[in-house]
Amino acid sequence: MPSNLLATSDKQKVFIFDTTLRDGEQSPGATLNVQEKLEIAKQLAKLEVDIIEAGFPFSSPGDFEAVKLISKEVQGPTICALSRTRKGDIDKAAEALEEAKNRRIHTFIATSDIHMEHKLKMSRDQVLKTAAECVSYAKQFTDNIEFSPEDAGRSDPKFLFEILQAVIEAGATTVNIPDTVGYTVPNEFGGLIKSIKENVPNINKAVISVHCHNDLGLAVANSLNAVINGARQVECTINGIGERAGNCSLEEIVMILKTRPMLGFYTDIDSSQIYRSSRLVSTLTNMLVQPNKAIVGANAFSHESGIHQDGFLKYKRTYEIMNPEDIGLLTSKLPLGPRSGRHALNERLTELGYHLPEEQLDKALIRFKEIADKKKRVEDRDLESIVRDEQRVQETVSHYELENLQIACGTGLPTASVCLRRTSDNVFLKDSALGTGPVDAIYKAINKMVQVPNELIEFSVQSVTEGIDALGEVTIRIRHSEGAVYSGHAANTDITLACAKAYLNALNKLISMLNTGIKIAPQADEFKSRKGV
Ligand code: KIV
Ligand code: ZN
Repeated sequence: MPSNLLATSDKQKVFIFDTTLRDGEQSPGATLNVQEKLEIAKQLAKLEVDIIEAGFPFSSPGDFEAVKLISKEVQGPTICALSRTRKGDIDKAAEALEEAKNRRIHTFIATSDIHMEHKLKMSRDQVLKTAAECVSYAKQFTDNIEFSPEDAGRSDPKFLFEILQAVIEAGATTVNIPDTVGYTVPNEFGGLIKSIKENVPNINKAVISVHCHNDLGLAVANSLNAVINGARQVECTINGIGERAGNCSLEEIVMILKTRPMLGFYTDIDSSQIYRSSRLVSTLTNMLVQPNKAIVGANAFSHESGIHQDGFLKYKRTYEIMNPEDIGLLTSKLPLGPRSGRHALNERLTELGYHLPEEQLDKALIRFKEIADKKKRVEDRDLESIVRDEQRVQETVSHYELENLQIACGTGLPTASVCLRRTSDNVFLKDSALGTGPVDAIYKAINKMVQVPNELIEFSVQSVTEGIDALGEVTIRIRHSEGAVYSGHAANTDITLACAKAYLNALNKLISMLNTGIKIAPQADEFKSRKGV
């Protein structure tokens, strides 16, 4: 073991800065509405993250509203808002944060030659001056200011030292070093952090933070090496979601520091909330977690080979370095099946953290009975899927509802006959279509009735649990002709029904947006189309 990894009794705290709601939401198609953002922020507070980056208020009215609502409703973590180094952005960030008990303004400007020359068209002097001016401007709203030199990983270190010194002088209390394009490798990135500590004279007045992207699959390794070399804040997202290949995954960096205390660091995260946070983010963003994903993937704690199973049964530490309970993965002591009733269902849902009002519990019970009739044993994942499915139906305005679906497929031509109820006038619409397969036929039949131009850009079916009788979860994404992407989600033991409902879920969202007539602000387009921010 290298000497810098030796056990130490006085461990140092690493601050966890969660950017699921800002960088994470920049994942294509992962758009969350304001209520969904609030739900995630409340869960992040239960997870006990130190800072929640709740959004970029200047970029869109939706982001502004989300930061404002989270500032008002979420207690515990510091609430942070992103802004470019522009006074208008900073004003909006400050306004959105007004009601937060503890607030932070995070302002950024690019410092790599490639960004300054081609994107900003600014000289080094102009960038340095703008950065320092905006940090001191932001100081009037709060003392807690974070500055990020975007694309620091590809910036000239000498210029980086200079600009960091200037912004700390101007009042920045955290300096964040982003590897915006996920280009660096661990030794190099750790070395950069070390050199910042050695070459920025006033660095002890600020916390060094890191923000690593995962383009080469190194975001977690780079963040860890940065911590070993002096960083004390890690910016990360649940399930590692974010621009392109995503960000450093929160659950991975947290569990590394917890499982390897000899590294000498700790976080204040309540790790028993990790699994629930992961499921919530996956469901609300409709971004599935790959089964072999570290910590939260479906296979992360299952042992397949005979030798492994044998060793695990004799002594679980032979093959398990963490307890599933550490991340909140609980095995039920009271399995639910066809004979379980309302009481048992409610007990288990409460254990899983769902407190359903009577009416929702009734609906969940009906779905539960349907599934229990088909499956002998209803797992926690089935229950979560049912609850989320019901919540989704309640949250999305239903312009069209599925009344009936008939499919004919096999060796002949696949045909779908669909009946929809148009809720605005309670009219029943019926149509049928041929397709290349049953799903294609369903979508064509629905399109004939709904007539909102869109392109199906993603379609996936995942079984919630193992077995032929498993619930199938369908996730789809559609792109409207004007470019916006909407996701739809549904679960059912009959996957053709799930497909039809998932498509309607996405179409209903698209129609709601068309009805509001809201156009995304040009600033938002400019920002959201800039990959790597
Ligand atoms: O990746 C990046 O550089 C960012 C900054 C805004 C911190 O997300
Ligand atoms: Zn980023």
